[in-house]
Amino acid sequence: MKHLVRCFECGREVSDPFVDSCPHCSGKLTIELDLNEVKERSPKELRSRPFGVWRYAPFLPVDASKAVTLKEGGTPLYKCSSLAEKSAIKEVFVKFEGANPTGSFKDRGMTVGVSRAVELGCKVVGCASTGNTSASLAAYAAKARLDSVVLLPSGKVAMGKLAQAMFYGAKVVMVDGNFDDALRVVREMGNAGQLYILNSINPYRPEGQKTVAFEIMDQLEFEVPDRIILPVGNAANIWAVYKAFTEWRELGWIDKIPKLTGIQAAGSAPIVRAFRSGQDDFVPEDHPETIATAIRIGNPASGRKALRAIKDTDGTAIDVTDEEILKAQRMLGRMEGIGVEPASAASIAGLVKLRQMGEIDWDERVVCICTGHVLKDPDTVIKSCEAIIQAKADMESVRKAIGR
Ligand code: F0G
Repeated sequence: MKHLVRCFECGREVSDPFVDSCPHCSGKLTIELDLNEVKERSPKELRSRPFGVWRYAPFLPVDASKAVTLKEGGTPLYKCSSLAEKSAIKEVFVKFEGANPTGSFKDRGMTVGVSRAVELGCKVVGCASTGNTSASLAAYAAKARLDSVVLLPSGKVAMGKLAQAMFYGAKVVMVDGNFDDALRVVREMGNAGQLYILNSINPYRPEGQKTVAFEIMDQLEFEVPDRIILPVGNAANIWAVYKAFTEWRELGWIDKIPKLTGIQAAGSAPIVRAFRSGQDDFVPEDHPETIATAIRIGNPASGRKALRAIKDTDGTAIDVTDEEILKAQRMLGRMEGIGVEPASAASIAGLVKLRQMGEIDWDERVVCICTGHVLKDPDTVIKSCEAIIQAKADMESVRKAIGR
């Protein structure tokens, strides 16, 4: 699809494909698609391609015929009646992104990002990550036979994600510091020409991530839901979802956008604070802390974009405590059979809390995006669930142990 890269802040066109921000004002970059090709079409016509990220090729800024793909996207949208009843809301759906090839939504952006890297002839790709991006990058780099380097915050990456990055063959570096420190370093390396950066400040990544919104629309027979709730960390995903809806609105395919509702962890909530005080910009959190390590980010690179997405859609942003996150995670597992990692459960915790606060009306149709699989972070699950029962190998002992 024909497109150009623009600065989100000053609007200038940026032609150098290897810069990660605007050479004039240092603003973050975004992609402007030429939507003329799809103008006369309807979203239903897209259904001639298989369900998944590449169904939406007309909205992606790379050549689909050369895509580096592991068949990402096409994830289930579960109707959650028990959760709806429990939270006293008419209709609740969960878009389960854990069903992606590496177990998180990151694969949507990475198939596009790595395809772009190949188009540009790059040999080494890299990112900073709280874990999921690194797992995804490592897998897609392997598929494309590129070298990958991932920078992780020391000691704060969930075991499943770490194992994946190592397994797919990335060079894994733990840096002394948090995600924000790791991102600073990897950007320096990108600017020094040592690697092609595939964090979500690379505007090709959110383009792939947009497809989660297109899929939700497809699965709801193109009826726009009232609200979409999602966790916010580095803040690109909420922007991607917003961009998807604005493109379809521009084409006249839809006439409204769901209220985009961002959830952060209480110890790591710069966007929530900015939103509450009505600011367009945020004050970074120097020492972010939360059990939801995926969103343990104090200086979200796409924070300004996220604030625009929330404000423009009449959405909101709240924080939830670690306790609320763990409770929501277990509830979703035990009530709906859906296993998500703590950061993903933030959207469920947010749903419950916003309903209690009266911010969500009972008759809303709400979609919660659950971004990653429960197996990403087994340690947290094992610590937060009831202890395992030990018993002798005979029926009497087992019956006693389980109290029957
Ligand atoms: N949920 C999960 C499971 C994540 O891994 C992330 C981000 C988010 C939500 C937040 O998305 O950053 O677009 O606001 N993980 C990144 C990573 C930072 O490195 O894997 P966001």
